[in-house]
Amino acid sequence: MPLVTTTEMFKKAYDGGYAVGAFNVNNMEIVQGITEAAREQHAPLILQVSKGARAYANHTYLVKLVEAAAIECPEIPIALHLDHGPDFETCKSCIDGGFTSVMIDASSKPFAENIEITRKVVEYAHDHGVVVEAELGSLAGVEDEVKVAAEDSSYTRPEEVEEFVSKTGCDSLAIAIGTSHGAYKFTAAQCTRNEKGILVPPPLRFDILEEVSKRLPGFPIVLHGSSSVPQEYVKMINDNGGKMPDAVGIPEEQLRHAASLSVCKINIDSDLRLAMTGTIRQYFAQHPDHFDPRQYLSPARANIKAVVTHKLIDVLGCAGKA
Ligand code: G3H
Ligand code: 13P
Ligand code: ZN
Repeated sequence: MPLVTTTEMFKKAYDGGYAVGAFNVNNMEIVQGITEAAREQHAPLILQVSKGARAYANHTYLVKLVEAAAIECPEIPIALHLDHGPDFETCKSCIDGGFTSVMIDASSKPFAENIEITRKVVEYAHDHGVVVEAELGSLAGVEDEVKVAAEDSSYTRPEEVEEFVSKTGCDSLAIAIGTSHGAYKFTAAQCTRNEKGILVPPPLRFDILEEVSKRLPGFPIVLHGSSSVPQEYVKMINDNGGKMPDAVGIPEEQLRHAASLSVCKINIDSDLRLAMTGTIRQYFAQHPDHFDPRQYLSPARANIKAVVTHKLIDVLGCAGKA
């Protein structure tokens, strides 16, 4: 099946009370780990590419890897999405270059400017059969080379969403309800600690999500910064020469709840990075004499697949929905 847009996926996800996973890809092993899991679980899939990924791996290599995945997995729908498109030119280049979905992220701009840039991208994208995700509100953490300090982040204002969506014509909307990019989503000071001393983050603002959904009935909402930072991989990294103290993510049960509401797309990148890095660190510690990249990239790819399988079944609820 050729690459598809997210229109049909989101309609089914909205009606079915689940979310489609959007996983960031940067190289072949990551693409393979994710798509093998989605294929086995018969799950719809969004593979997304950031500006940083295009700079690292090259646009054409990434498009061809994702097209190869679609050929290898003909039973499942796969969308190729630009993550955090910073400007019209980047979006245009992806629309012209084989992507089926783009995000224009003008969320750091004033409201009127965000509308203006988003509308321009939507016009060009829709003329070319491509769908557009936009963002209102800003997440703390690192957004594709832009670091947003916690004090500069802001929740989405529900009273703005109807005007934004009707004036821009965007197809889905990313909102800020307390998620954050990266592996350090909250400082220790923002969290409490449970009886084992593990950090417990503040709950997501479901009141904002519900208000947004009331104002935009049937409209697909997107959550960025939705890695859960599995402590098993943080430990694997720290036990094998790494140093990631107090890395903390979004509790999975809150993501599951969001997926059962209007959230149709959930973005996950950091959890795959942790799985890959932990696995490779452990492999090197256990096999100091090995130097063939296939030896350490194979278990890394297998653990990416395991993480994605778990997300599809237990967090997103999209297994069996392709
Ligand atoms: O939102 C950020 C994604 O995790 C992509 O990260 O810009 O380092 O590729 P990146
Ligand atoms: P995480 O850093 O939580 O994986 O978020 C990824 C993301 O939002 C990509 O756009
Ligand atoms: Zn993001």
